Amino acid sequence: MKATAKANSNIALIKYWGKRDKKLNLPAVGSISLTLEGLHTVTSVNFDAQLDKDRVKINDVPVEGIEKKRVSNFLDIIRRLSGKNMAAQVISTNNFPTAAGLASSASAFAALAFAGSEAAGLDLLPAQLSELARIGSGSAARSVFGGIVEMHKGLREDGKDAVAHQIAAKDYWDLRLLIAVTSRAKKKTASTDGMTLSRETSPYYKAWVETAEDDLAQMRSIIKERDFHKLGELSEYSCLKMHALALSSNPGLLYWNSTTLAVMQTIRSMRENGLPVYFTIDAGPQVKALCEPQHVQSIKTALVEIHGVIDVLESGLGDDAKVIEVEK
Ligand code: PMV
Repeated sequence: MKATAKANSNIALIKYWGKRDKKLNLPAVGSISLTLEGLHTVTSVNFDAQLDKDRVKINDVPVEGIEKKRVSNFLDIIRRLSGKNMAAQVISTNNFPTAAGLASSASAFAALAFAGSEAAGLDLLPAQLSELARIGSGSAARSVFGGIVEMHKGLREDGKDAVAHQIAAKDYWDLRLLIAVTSRAKKKTASTDGMTLSRETSPYYKAWVETAEDDLAQMRSIIKERDFHKLGELSEYSCLKMHALALSSNPGLLYWNSTTLAVMQTIRSMRENGLPVYFTIDAGPQVKALCEPQHVQSIKTALVEIHGVIDVLESGLGDDAKVIEVEK
């Protein structure tokens, strides 16, 4: 049986960095994110008795090695849960740059969880799909839901409570995001390796974990109040705190390039000139500018002018992941 699913990417405002368990991919801290419209992965999974091994194509290119292994390991979980012992063909397409800090693993594993479980005949609840997606990538647990989403670090060893839930649907707050693309190169350190390095070497790691709950609690109440300035300030703070942790690892993890820094500085000077705009950055060089709809045009105009900015993508809040096609 074949199923195709679509999942949107997401951007964390309160960042996740660090794992409390590597095998089940359990996060050491919770996180809060926006699911992004228009930046998505579409994935089809076809369990086929004729195949001798899994075949995986990402953006039209057959993949082997570690990338394929990650997909096959994930399919193994679905095979175990469903009892379907067939190899599968996986075809996955992103409509945005892969592995450059645009959280492609988030939409990829959310889409794979939906398509794979549907194709295997599993009937999973949203929280179970979030749990499954999390095993593929921590941020993928959040892409299961639309709008504003919180991921819980959970307390259980089996990870059943390390799942995401929706805080607010996408029409609760018209937030916009402008993504300044500063590089299309693949990042050098995958987030899993970066997180391990930070846990093992950063003297700030303990403080990062201990202060996470406060940031999450503050963000929840800001979302209730719908206070854009507070939302932006806390998002920028969480982003810089995460990058300070990455930088304080040994050897230090530097995900930015010179354009990243130029964009951050431009955003801060726009703010000094009265334009409400804030930045957030994941484990990559792209800068995401958080703003309200009435300011999109003027911010975009300023961002495209920065030397080194390749493209500026626009996004708002997107929907839940979903199965879009099933073939029996
Ligand atoms: O789940 P991963 O491996 O894609 O890690 C996500 C890490 C960050 O994007 C930097 C932060 C986050 O919460 O999305």
